[in-house]
Amino acid sequence: MTINGPLLDYLKTRRSVGGGFLKDPGPAPDELEQILTIGMRVPDHGKFAPWRLIVIEGEARTEIGNRLAQIAKQKRPELDEAGMDIERRQFLPAPLTIGVIYSPKPHPKAPELEQLLSAGVVAFNLCNAAFALGFGASWVTRWFAFDPAAQEMLGARAGERFVGFVHIGTPTMVPEDRDRPKLEDIVSNWQPPA
Ligand SMILES: Cc1cc2nc3c(=O)[nH]c(=O)nc-3n(C[C@H](O)[C@H](O)[C@H](O)COP(=O)(O)O)c2cc1C
Repeated sequence: MTINGPLLDYLKTRRSVGGGFLKDPGPAPDELEQILTIGMRVPDHGKFAPWRLIVIEGEARTEIGNRLAQIAKQKRPELDEAGMDIERRQFLPAPLTIGVIYSPKPHPKAPELEQLLSAGVVAFNLCNAAFALGFGASWVTRWFAFDPAAQEMLGARAGERFVGFVHIGTPTMVPEDRDRPKLEDIVSNWQPPA
């Protein structure tokens, strides 16, 4: 068996970099194409791609932020200017974000849970592709991944929903490792039910 050392090291040390710690430059067009292509290379029972991707970059980040602030204000009239500003900056400073939409399709062999899982793996694989090209990335949802008006504004159609947003850019920090679950707490050998 041939061991892929660099891949093993990557898998053992990979960490997300939050959107607030991502700056220009973001992926160039050819890098973005690679990230999108690798991101879609996921297990997909039924092979009908129950997901879609929305790229958010440049001026769109500010425009979306303004619209998010409006939606937030409609829902929470008490929101002050500082709170509005947080919403306006949801897609800043990260230079590029990919919204991952779960777009289920009726299928006799692939139940919706499998389709949803496939969409989640797309989000994570986009992170992996970004890391492989030297960028930092993080997968977040935030309130607007759950709010119908915000989801529609961001590009979800009827029957669809966002599974998250993958912020991508040049990292401004190297995150320390964080605690992971202990294997003995989450792994056990199968036992027949009592
Ligand atoms: C589906 C999903 C949604 C998430 N949403 C958020 C979020 O809204 N805000 C946040 O700070 N972190 C969120 N996170 C966690 C981030 O991805 C976080 O950066 C991650 O826990 C870092 O772990 P890692 O370094 O092992 O990738 C989410 C994670 C997942 C899987």
